[in-house]
Amino acid sequence: MSTQANKTKIDLDIRPFSKAPLGAEVRGIDLSKPLSKETQATVYKSFLKHQLLVFRDQKLTKQEQVEFSKQFGELERHTLRNRGQEDEPLVHVVSNLGPDGKPTGKVNSDMWHTDKSFRPLPSMATILHAQVLPPNGGDTCFANMYAAYEALSESEKETLDDVKVVHSWELSRENIGRVMSEEEKRDAPTNAWPLARVHPETGRKALFMGMHASHIEGRPLEEGRAKIIALEEHATQQKFCHRHTWQSGDVLMWDNRCLLHRADPNFDASLHPRILHRTCLRGTTPA
Ligand SMILES: [Fe+2]
Repeated sequence: MSTQANKTKIDLDIRPFSKAPLGAEVRGIDLSKPLSKETQATVYKSFLKHQLLVFRDQKLTKQEQVEFSKQFGELERHTLRNRGQEDEPLVHVVSNLGPDGKPTGKVNSDMWHTDKSFRPLPSMATILHAQVLPPNGGDTCFANMYAAYEALSESEKETLDDVKVVHSWELSRENIGRVMSEEEKRDAPTNAWPLARVHPETGRKALFMGMHASHIEGRPLEEGRAKIIALEEHATQQKFCHRHTWQSGDVLMWDNRCLLHRADPNFDASLHPRILHRTCLRGTTPA
């Protein structure tokens, strides 16, 4: 019973969060090394089952994070403004630092969203690795869109059939007070996706919206926007949510096809740096 396969089974310790509607902690794994096929399969199965995996005590270089990510899919490039640094353009450095290297007081991505939902192939997974954390706070919050969809009444679900939402990077930037350049607009045109999408691997339906969700296709802008806001209020109730309190060395991997997430600016962002390394894996056409 000393084969590598059995050793992997014994060493990989996956603990679902008992009081949360999503998520599991994974121990007994070093993400800086290539994973065996069996471990990859176990990790991916757990990712589909729990939607969010938390790996503790990791220490990955940017290149190692890229190599880890590539084991689960194709890496997605980032938007023009978020493009990684020259040493590794596929790693987006999430940070509250300004060009002078000092904390700006601003925390990006603090509204509920699913990564790159405006893309022709929105992200299937995001992998985020803590680099520098504030002494407290700077949490990342998650909401389970399977659970939010399943909690709707049958008649409410029916009203969502065939409804498509226009996802717009331009509009979501406008909402945070930034006007995009023409080059940025060309880089990220809008796309319309089902409001209730079918997860391509689990077959379960999940609400698909968030801060890039602009309005409902074919309906007046204000009416559609109001519907999306009301659904988001429903979908982000406490009972559907989990709050991740970061620890040094944490790596998170989550499923963008069935979760919303946001950064919580619950720390003094003008005083403390918060830096994380992000990779995204390309998904499929939402249907
Ligand atoms: Fe995000």
